[in-house]
Amino acid sequence: MLKIRPMLFILFAVALILNGGETELNYKNKNLPIEERIDDLLIRMTLEEKIFQMNQWTYGKNANPNNIESKIMEVRPEIGSLLYRSISPVYRNQIQRKAIEESRLGIPIIFGFDVIHGYRTIFPIPLAQACSWNTELVKKSCEIAAKEAWLSGIDWTFSPMIDVARDPRWGRVAESYGEDPYANSIFGVAAVNGYQGEKLSDKYTIAACLKHYVGYSLSEGGREYRYSDVSAQTLWETFLPPYEAGIRAGAATVMSGFNDISGIPATANYYTLTEILKQRWQHDGFVISDWASIRNLIYQGVAKDRKDAGYKALMAGVEMGMVDNIYLENLNELVEEEKIPIATIDEAVRRILRIKFRLGLFENPYVDELEEKERYLKPEYLQISKQLAAESMVLLKNENNVLPLKLKLKNIAVIGPILKDSINIMGSWVGQGKASDVETLYEGLVKEFNGKINMSYSPGCDYDGEDTSNFGQAREIAEKSEMVILFMGEKRNWSGENASRSSIALPRIQEQLVEMIHKTGKPIVLVLSSGRPLELIRLEKMADAIIEIWQPGTAGGSALAEILTGKINPSGKLAITFPQTTGQIPMYYNRRKQAVPNLGHYQDIPEGPLYQFGHGLSYTNYSYGKISLSKNQIKKNEKLIAEISVSNNGIYDGKETVLWFIADPVASISRPVKELKYFEKKEIKVGETIVYQFYIDPMRDLSFIDSKGDRHLESGDYFIKAGNQEINFVIID
Ligand code: NOJ
Repeated sequence: MLKIRPMLFILFAVALILNGGETELNYKNKNLPIEERIDDLLIRMTLEEKIFQMNQWTYGKNANPNNIESKIMEVRPEIGSLLYRSISPVYRNQIQRKAIEESRLGIPIIFGFDVIHGYRTIFPIPLAQACSWNTELVKKSCEIAAKEAWLSGIDWTFSPMIDVARDPRWGRVAESYGEDPYANSIFGVAAVNGYQGEKLSDKYTIAACLKHYVGYSLSEGGREYRYSDVSAQTLWETFLPPYEAGIRAGAATVMSGFNDISGIPATANYYTLTEILKQRWQHDGFVISDWASIRNLIYQGVAKDRKDAGYKALMAGVEMGMVDNIYLENLNELVEEEKIPIATIDEAVRRILRIKFRLGLFENPYVDELEEKERYLKPEYLQISKQLAAESMVLLKNENNVLPLKLKLKNIAVIGPILKDSINIMGSWVGQGKASDVETLYEGLVKEFNGKINMSYSPGCDYDGEDTSNFGQAREIAEKSEMVILFMGEKRNWSGENASRSSIALPRIQEQLVEMIHKTGKPIVLVLSSGRPLELIRLEKMADAIIEIWQPGTAGGSALAEILTGKINPSGKLAITFPQTTGQIPMYYNRRKQAVPNLGHYQDIPEGPLYQFGHGLSYTNYSYGKISLSKNQIKKNEKLIAEISVSNNGIYDGKETVLWFIADPVASISRPVKELKYFEKKEIKVGETIVYQFYIDPMRDLSFIDSKGDRHLESGDYFIKAGNQEINFVIID
């Protein structure tokens, strides 16, 4: 014993000398487990320092018109997070240095930003991405976005948005992966994996944020920031599954929505934030409010003032407040009054610090300071952006195979407001994307036609308004051409946040232009760029071909041009239904069964959507064989394999996505008419037959969830569907 003591003393002294006279603080010791480091740090932190961690400031230009109310505050070195809108890594590092060197404990700031579908290289909007059914490409796009963002000082994105979106009047359908819970789960997971990489602490990875938890897309009537009436059954069955999948994939953070969930706002909802997210799913990251959504609790009628709002949000499970500073102003007092236990503050700060530790911010608080040209728009990034754009475009109609364009065509009229527009085809939430980086649709065509086809151009009309002064010119060039390609659609700010529309039809001026061109009798290809499904009931019959290109981003021009000429065979399929008219909304494929089949229609329009979920044509012909099953009868714990062969009988190589649905005709809780459970996209060359397989795990794929979140697997008949095929099998007890 006596011998050991001097030995320990010597070791301690050596450590002191090596450390410039100080022993290393445990929270700074990267060899210790994160939880121990947090324990150590929490002991050292004052209440004020803890509360600072729970606030997010904004820095930089207020790019989003919905965020104008906030005033930009001076950055304090103790702040927990910054919504960072500059692209400068140098400036970010300066701010971070202030936190590391000037705050008492040197806790790094986490810098967040809305990197939604790209940072500087802009990819198609998420709704479009889902139509690609290519999870690898979606993941890759998020990886690129993360790298560009990280090199600009961003550690954390407020993405993916996985709100199952079934009302196309709601502008935020553009940001979702469409109307299906499974699709939102799978693409949400792909995005989380793309952003977060193998390990959050790796270079170029950023933390993901699942949003807007939960039920936001049910905002009444598709109007933004409204009440959402969500039954417990629908909550569990439709809206929660993508979040559960994202949490299991390791999403670091979650954002609480603006919406009020059946009377209890999402930002004050203990059931969803604590009981489900933290207790049931064991999420150990943190929840950030949406923009001032803590303050909004006052407007929503559940908090009497800011202090009460802060109390309710924190007690429900929101650890960080975005922008409204309510926590900063009130938590101290709430703790002193013993309304909020210090343990609640500690738990909230622990969660925030945990993500900072996992990101490696304590070890590597600074990012590389590269020139802009070394950070952005690398050729491989543009290539992925183009491929994703091409795979997400959906050929809705192609009568008499007008597309691809025939070689013998010499003169084409290209008309429409979108053609030379480099801004609107980027879509909403463009991160740091610049119009000057974007290849317009017109430029794409010029490059692809390469002088072999003459193009005469007219804008035809604007997106809206009443100016018909270019109609004459448009008609004239149409008459002189063999074919007309019309480029119509929406401006980017017609979708996105706070951008709802009461009608999803194109403005009258655009429809008038199509009607006028139709009268020339020339074949019409209608190219549509929009952030939502459109009402096409009047236009559909006037067009020989229709292609929905969504808002394709930086490289959409070439993607479309190569589809038009047939260099690329379209492979997109709708991840959201196109109703015939706005009045049919809500219209989605996985609705519950109706009481009286084949009745109950609107009298003034034919039944059904114009283009259903999963619709999308190709230039080639795929024929589906019959579905075969490994067994026709299984027990609940047995697995089942379904197979279908798909042959390419046409003259173009292509990629075909098989969407596998199940249907459960009789259950103790009525099931939707069918539900997507798996999908796979594969290349099929001309003349080839490829077998697609679906490995069915009954508990995962055939069970259903009840209004308390419990799963049930019932015996009885089931159907599996793919393409135009279906087969039935039985689960026995
Ligand atoms: C409000 C939006 O609802 C949310 O999606 C976004 O991440 C924040 N503002 C931050 O810009």
